[in-house]
Amino acid sequence: MQNSLIRSTGYWVPPNVITNDELVASYNAYATRFNSRHADAIAAGEAEAVPLSSSEFIRNASGIERRHVYEKTGILDIDSMVPRIPPRPVEAVSVQAEFALKSVQIALDKAGYDGSDIDGVIVASSAQQRNFPAVSCEIQEAIGASGFAFDMTMACAAALYGLNLANGLIRSGQAKRILICSPELMTCINVHSRREVHFIFGDASAAMIVEADDGRPGGWDVLGTHTENKWSSALRSDYGFINIAEQSVDPAFAPHLDQDGHKVFKDVVGFAPKVARRMMQQIDLTPNDVRRTWLHQANIRMVDMIAKRILERDRTNENAPSILHEYGNTSSSSVVMNFDMHSDDMAVGETGVMCAFGAGYGVGAAAVRKRA
Ligand code: COA
Repeated sequence: MQNSLIRSTGYWVPPNVITNDELVASYNAYATRFNSRHADAIAAGEAEAVPLSSSEFIRNASGIERRHVYEKTGILDIDSMVPRIPPRPVEAVSVQAEFALKSVQIALDKAGYDGSDIDGVIVASSAQQRNFPAVSCEIQEAIGASGFAFDMTMACAAALYGLNLANGLIRSGQAKRILICSPELMTCINVHSRREVHFIFGDASAAMIVEADDGRPGGWDVLGTHTENKWSSALRSDYGFINIAEQSVDPAFAPHLDQDGHKVFKDVVGFAPKVARRMMQQIDLTPNDVRRTWLHQANIRMVDMIAKRILERDRTNENAPSILHEYGNTSSSSVVMNFDMHSDDMAVGETGVMCAFGAGYGVGAAAVRKRA
């Protein structure tokens, strides 16, 4: 059995930024217009007023200050509140594949590989822009990789489910070098007219190259991976192929994203650290052995509490860095981005734990050790 290692990672974020103030100004303009247009119905108790949002609330409740987005003007336009992305002809590379390729190229360049060095491609993200053909097949073709390609989803935890799978495939000899892509266009899924969620997500693309250990130096040994699920309906995106048959594609229904934020917070803060600790127990790793944990970035208070339960010490920016303020929640790409940005300073032989959590609920955890 061959051990696996992370050879390289890469991430890419779009240059367009929306600050909390910009987002709130647009949302509040939408809410104010709605409330004035429906003033009579609201006064008669026949409609509910849309509540106002505030930058201060967003920063204090979530830790988010800005987010990078694929397309800005459509999100801020109160007549649309979704990114404007023109349709492309079928022969053109799809938006999501193109978005993935930005970070894939960075990961390939860092490793000194080209696409022909890859023999498996997994797209592991919250959603794919079409049902088939798999976006991974398009990426495989674009970079000239061989072997298999498939798409999988497990919301914000998807990248670590991909890593868990890649680790198993490599250890069992079914592949030598797997590319895991997490291209997240979350602003296309989010509902920017709903106060509970309008500020949460940003867009980002991340990639990881995982390979069999052939004795060459560099990279990060994958010491252990583990995933667990516990069904919950508290965080949902119901948009899918069945909407057509259900005839529920109604703009007023907008079945894109909804959550019970309180419940998600409470449930996930309890569940995620337990999964990470079970992964650590399986490989005899104690919190003292772990210098750093790279967590999925959902909410700064969740990051604080989950880090403390994994590490058995208070969170600091050193032992559990946060990138929420700049990027918001970028779903499955966030844990890879966090690792990519905050791992160069670790010394050879030092160990870290990645943990990602989200809808499902699904939690993925992995322990990695820096190689000489
Ligand atoms: N702007 C201004 N005020 C707001 C607001 C907004 N956008 N949203 C809520 N409020 C108000 C509420 O009305 C409430 O007011 P009240 O005390 O007068 O009733 C107050 O702020 C607190 O609201 P609450 O819903 O309790 O906020 P919270 O502290 O629980 O934070 C979330 C809400 C969504 C940030 C938080 O529940 C969360 O992060 N949950 C996890 C969600 C998540 O990360 N999902 C993805 C997981 S991968």
